[in-house]
Amino acid sequence: MRVKETVMSTDRLIIFDTTMRDGEQSPGATMTREEKLRIARQLERMRVDVIEAGFPAASNGDFEAVHAVASTITGSTICGLSRANQNDIRRCAEAIAPAPRRRIHTFLATSRIHMEKKLRMEPSQVLETAVNAVKFARGFTDDVEFSPEDAGRSDIDFLCRVLEAVIRAGATTLNIPDTVGYTMPEQYGALIRQLRERVPGSDKVIWSTHCHNDLGLAAANSLAGVMNGARQVECTINGLGERAGNAALEEIVMAVRTRQDIFPCDTNIDSTQIVPASRLVAGITGFSVQPNKAVVGANAFAHESGIHQDGVLKNRETYEIMRAQDVGWHANKIVLGKLSGRNAFRSRLQELGVVVESEERLNAAFARFKELADRKQEIFDEDLQALLSDETVTTEDEHYKLISMSAHSETGEPPRARVTLSIGGVEKTANTTGSGPVDAAFKAVEVLVASGAELQLYSVNNITSGTESQGEVTVRLQLAGRIVNGVGADTDIVVASVKAYLNALNRLQASIDRTNPQL
Ligand code: KIV
Ligand code: ZN
Repeated sequence: MRVKETVMSTDRLIIFDTTMRDGEQSPGATMTREEKLRIARQLERMRVDVIEAGFPAASNGDFEAVHAVASTITGSTICGLSRANQNDIRRCAEAIAPAPRRRIHTFLATSRIHMEKKLRMEPSQVLETAVNAVKFARGFTDDVEFSPEDAGRSDIDFLCRVLEAVIRAGATTLNIPDTVGYTMPEQYGALIRQLRERVPGSDKVIWSTHCHNDLGLAAANSLAGVMNGARQVECTINGLGERAGNAALEEIVMAVRTRQDIFPCDTNIDSTQIVPASRLVAGITGFSVQPNKAVVGANAFAHESGIHQDGVLKNRETYEIMRAQDVGWHANKIVLGKLSGRNAFRSRLQELGVVVESEERLNAAFARFKELADRKQEIFDEDLQALLSDETVTTEDEHYKLISMSAHSETGEPPRARVTLSIGGVEKTANTTGSGPVDAAFKAVEVLVASGAELQLYSVNNITSGTESQGEVTVRLQLAGRIVNGVGADTDIVVASVKAYLNALNRLQASIDRTNPQL
């Protein structure tokens, strides 16, 4: 019994989710405090070990969001990112203070190009600054992580010196970022192995991977790190993150679980929460999941060819290496309908882990549910999630609100739309034509709002299957260098489109002023 316990604890792979920090650095993925809370609750439900909730020094909004997550979540360690200076670290410590388990993650670049061109610091200054930062952070918590940014392109001898010094200064986790996604799996694995072999005190810390996906190798590199002794992987839901993103949590967790014959460790993740987490993050950020995405893509378990279908019917394992239900697919049983009452609605939301903060908001969500149930017979969990993601964006202080709209298309006639909005409490209406009903409706909104924003992306997905499904629309707008995503859902895709457009405009209006930690 004793031996088993020891083996299990060493062989635990820590999952560190950075969807709300590195993921939030994707253009347009900025999240509000409420959105971060919803994601954090889902990550806790999934049993993520460490949640990096944000970069508190980036903005007051980010500070508040990290503080709210730290005040709410008890099942996971709450981590905040900070640059290697006292102000950032103090702010981070304050933000995570309410959490029962808290971590400060501080970082400083160690590659020649970053030190010379970005930091304009000598290597000796970098070493000293890193040590001071870790010592200062240890004054607030015993759980301190240090990352030598751009480790993948850093000189290994210098890296060893810095890492040895920060271990002595009190770092408990050493994270090795392949910041620009440059390394190859063999190389990254060897880097982890060599650092563990060469750095004195390496056995006293947890080694961690943080791999970017610029060459599509983030998951492969992270797993190579695990094979070489890393026992923490930093990853994000749906692989969200700077540029091409980070290692996808779902890929790491399922690779390790599916190939237990190879990996000497496993995670504590409840994998049945993966698909709900993926949907939630896609809905909130407006970054929809490509259909052929591993594990969480709509086609990840679909078999098109006759030979494959035949094989799967005879024996699922002929073409499937994981069970769809193990990652949370097929959970969309019919839950509610037109005749369902308020109590059934409330308890299904509770089962889904959705917390509606006040009776007033519950009533508003219930009214929208009834409205939807009038148009759509079967209401699935996904419909409820979309309904509630509408709820988070429909706040009292929302500047632009849709009051009513109609769109008309007829062969031989120019499509036209009539839109009535409330703008800062004043109702206004516009009638316009366009190349299609969506185009006409967007033009009508612009006549009323005159935002001048550039539409960078417009996409529609159905939330469940069939033509009576709700359409979920993502709109990306750019204005004065700021990029935001908006999402909207409705059984009428023109209405969903206008909701998404207004959601993006409201985000632009809220204009959160943030600093990017890596600039
Ligand atoms: O990619 C990176 O180097 C980072 C660090 C801040 C860990 O995100
Ligand atoms: Zn990163």
